[in-house]
Amino acid sequence: MSADRERIIDPASKPDDRFDLTLRPRSLSEVIGQERVKENLRILVEAAIRRGDPVEHILFYGPPGLGKTTLAHVVAGEMGVSIKVTSGPAIERPGDLAAILTNLQPGDIFFIDEIHRLGKAVEEILYPAMEDFVLDFVVGKGPSARSIRLKLPRFTVIGATTRLALVTAPLRARFGAIFRLDYYDVEAISTIVARAASLMRVQIDEGGIREIARRGRGTPRVALRLLRRVRDFAAVRANGVINHSVACEALDLLEVDSLGLDDIDRRVLRTIIEKYNGGPVGLNTIAASLSEESDTIMDVVEPYLLQLGMIERTPQGRVVTRMAYEHLGCEYPNKTTTQPTLF
Ligand SMILES: Nc1ncnc2c1ncn2[C@@H]1O[C@H](COP(=O)(O)OP(=O)(O)O)[C@@H](O)[C@H]1O
Ligand SMILES: [Mg+2]
Repeated sequence: MSADRERIIDPASKPDDRFDLTLRPRSLSEVIGQERVKENLRILVEAAIRRGDPVEHILFYGPPGLGKTTLAHVVAGEMGVSIKVTSGPAIERPGDLAAILTNLQPGDIFFIDEIHRLGKAVEEILYPAMEDFVLDFVVGKGPSARSIRLKLPRFTVIGATTRLALVTAPLRARFGAIFRLDYYDVEAISTIVARAASLMRVQIDEGGIREIARRGRGTPRVALRLLRRVRDFAAVRANGVINHSVACEALDLLEVDSLGLDDIDRRVLRTIIEKYNGGPVGLNTIAASLSEESDTIMDVVEPYLLQLGMIERTPQGRVVTRMAYEHLGCEYPNKTTTQPTLF
């Protein structure tokens, strides 16, 4: 789709910071869902506090909008330490990283978003920093060059990535704990929506909450954004009160369908169905036929369609399932498979 229209369900698009900050959970007990991750984090935090050590380096991975940044802040809050935030692409040169590292206080959390996008030279500075809390650098050039080692305070790296596969093995090996964040079930998203609505003083009933949660793609950031748009719709068209039918009307107007799919999701499915006879077809081919970034398709479109069971990943490429045909109202082709005859 054209870049001039904001994709309402795009969890990777720039969050509204002000809105995000007021709704962001501050402690583990306020974080909804992700029970296994929370339980593990509680243990890591508690053990670190008992030892009087910083918490171990932690890597969070999973699709955008599921709470990676939130959890990094929550861990800092639970540890009672401050957090320095940066991202892989923002650290251009090893010197940039060295400057940040030498400014850390003991126990600080250093949060690196999109950590898979760190440059090689930068990453190599990070290895000894994470492992031994030292900074190695070379001063001078040629024969007079010598290596200097600087001690750093003990600190914690928390990394976040949507692409675990792109995090190099040596970097991965330096994390004491790696957690995958999964899509939330409708129940958990409903609780998140209800909590946000109450913080925002929005009047909404159970039916309204459920509908927003159902179309929220199992993703808190998406559900919260839908809530804001439905709130606006309700303010203008329904005296500010959100019920099931107001939510449906508002979401239909936004072209977010009953499963939370939007135009681009539907176009991906349609393309596979119409141009590639339901697949199998490679992701890059799909992206090219739609003039979309394959990153968008890979990070945002595909994981959710896989989760729903609308597409399947095969060694030959992506295949659309019967469910997708039915959801789009397309007739499922009677693909004649040659049945082996058994005697
Ligand atoms: N478990 C959760 N409970 C409540 N709100 C959440 C939860 N996870 C995420 N959110 C909210 O969803 C939004 C996106 O979360 P964020 O941590 O920025 O996701 P990520 O870093 O994975 O892209 C934030 O506004 C946050 O407040
Ligand atoms: Mg984030």
